[in-house]
Amino acid sequence: MARFIVVVVVLVAIALLANKYLFGDGDAPPAKGKAAAAKQDDAKAADEKADDAGEDAEELAADAAAKKAQAGGPAPKFPAEDAGEEAAADAVASADVDTDLEQEPGVEPKLDAEADLAAPGEKITKMLPAETVQLGDPSLTAGIPGEGEITLEEMEVWLAEPKNHVVLKPELPLGLKAGEAEMKGLDENPLTRAKIELGRQLYFDPRLSSDASVSCASCHASETGYAAATKFGVGVEGQEGNRNSPTAYNRILSGAQFWDGRAASLEEQAKGPIANPIEMSNTHEACIECLRGIPGYVKQFNLVFEDGLTIDNVAKAIASFERTLVTGPAPWDYYTELDAFQQQFAADIEDLDALKEEDQELYNEYMALKKASDDHPISESAIRGGKLFFSEQAGCTACHLGANFTDEKYHNLGVGMDAKEPDLGRFVISNEEIDKGAFKTPTCRNVAQTAPYMHDGSQATLEEVVEWYAKGGHPNAWLSEKVKKLELSDQDKADLVAFMKEGLTGELPQVEEDRLLPDAEVAKEKAEEELKEEKAEAKAA
Ligand code: HEC
Ligand code: HEC
Repeated sequence: MARFIVVVVVLVAIALLANKYLFGDGDAPPAKGKAAAAKQDDAKAADEKADDAGEDAEELAADAAAKKAQAGGPAPKFPAEDAGEEAAADAVASADVDTDLEQEPGVEPKLDAEADLAAPGEKITKMLPAETVQLGDPSLTAGIPGEGEITLEEMEVWLAEPKNHVVLKPELPLGLKAGEAEMKGLDENPLTRAKIELGRQLYFDPRLSSDASVSCASCHASETGYAAATKFGVGVEGQEGNRNSPTAYNRILSGAQFWDGRAASLEEQAKGPIANPIEMSNTHEACIECLRGIPGYVKQFNLVFEDGLTIDNVAKAIASFERTLVTGPAPWDYYTELDAFQQQFAADIEDLDALKEEDQELYNEYMALKKASDDHPISESAIRGGKLFFSEQAGCTACHLGANFTDEKYHNLGVGMDAKEPDLGRFVISNEEIDKGAFKTPTCRNVAQTAPYMHDGSQATLEEVVEWYAKGGHPNAWLSEKVKKLELSDQDKADLVAFMKEGLTGELPQVEEDRLLPDAEVAKEKAEEELKEEKAEAKAA
């Protein structure tokens, strides 16, 4: 119990001090030297630390007061700030009282107010145990609670909650789950709710582009399966590239990005479109400059990352958001679970009444699987298509394999190879002859939502795609050995299409798309309005 109290008191103190430190005086990152010096105090006794914390709190309060005086006139002020100051002082006071508890062996929390507040978000992240979450959980992508544009006040309240800075240990939904060991990028760029939320705002924010007209979502929109319905991506001033926009979901299972794999990670990928002249047509410098002018971004970056607002951190936040975009369980996943069970326990389920009496647990498991499958029905045609997809006859799983239905490798199917100057794809990156005209195998999950298809968007429907495979692709010197003319009846082809359309379509996460940060002027006006209202209320009281 004593341990519990100490931990709770300390956590509350961190949260409130973090809140105060960050939001009390805004955007200047605290001096590193001081923080480093303070770190050396780690070895000191716990009660000394509590004292330090008290002094720091006073120092901070004095700092904030000085800042306000310096600014001259009524600087916009947020109610959360006041509440934070008081509560932080309270928390520090109780930490003082509890110092004898804190000395209990083995539980001394490694807290040094100043060192740990150097970048509160990241420090809290390191101090608290990880939270296990299932990707696709709507709470990850629901945005900061509220309506309309995000106000600084709403943001501050939400960011002051330690749970939003805890490292998340993601699990994958049924279907993708088989690929859980293959999840990429989490060690280098740990997920937290605050980072995902920052990435969500950036992903939907057209201010990342040169004329504030194009966001990532312009070419990777949720309505079109996080891809685009156009043949090629359409960027600033309607400019067109020469490749089709692939989907931004299930990226957590994917290493190299782009059709030719030229970006080694999602983080590296995210920086590309911002500076691409025909996409967002910006420079990284101008993009950062623009974000620096939006107060809410500066605060979030300072809180989430030790080194604040940089283009690499923009990329890290966006990548974190993208990693939460996963396809939910599809009818095929429920069907295969049930099917595997039925094969394993064929004898047991012959007589269900007997099973119910003899092995209630197994009976319940069976009934649950059966219900899940019944709730997500799949047609006979789609089931036949699935079996065909995995068969030698169609051979799709020579490349579309694993939890995300892709080998993440590059193959030449002959798409676009009849052009005068064909796009040579992976070859341009690798310079390997075998990679001429080869492109990265895309996922088949939720593929019904991401038309048109192929790297050049040349195929409008899944029916066309299946015809392409049936005729053995387009002959050229580098055609993959795995692409051959297929013996498929019209029914077989229809079954393959049904498998992809109904069998492999699962739900995508619910994502808040409209709640973004206001521009600086709007934010200032709102803050001033709030201040006026507060004053009026105070007068009335
Ligand atoms: C103008 C349209 C456009 C915009 C804006 C755009 N993209 Fe893309 N995106 C594309 C196209 C086209 C490709 C494929 C390019 C290639 O492979 O050469 C692509 C590729 C990708 C990929 C690789 C997927 C894979 O399977 O390899 C990801 C991830 C991605 N974009 C995310 C983003 C993010 C994040 C942003 C915003 C920072 C963004 N895109 C902005 C059109 C766009
Ligand atoms: C040799 C490896 C290979 C085999 C075998 C293969 N695919 Fe593909 N698939 C790819 C590659 C690579 C692409 C992208 C090619 C391009 O754009 O040039 C692709 C593209 C697709 C697409 C379009 C996806 C999108 O988002 O644009 C679908 C659908 C598809 N394949 C389904 C199938 C089916 C069904 C089969 C079996 C009949 C099959 N594939 C067999 C490698 C393969």
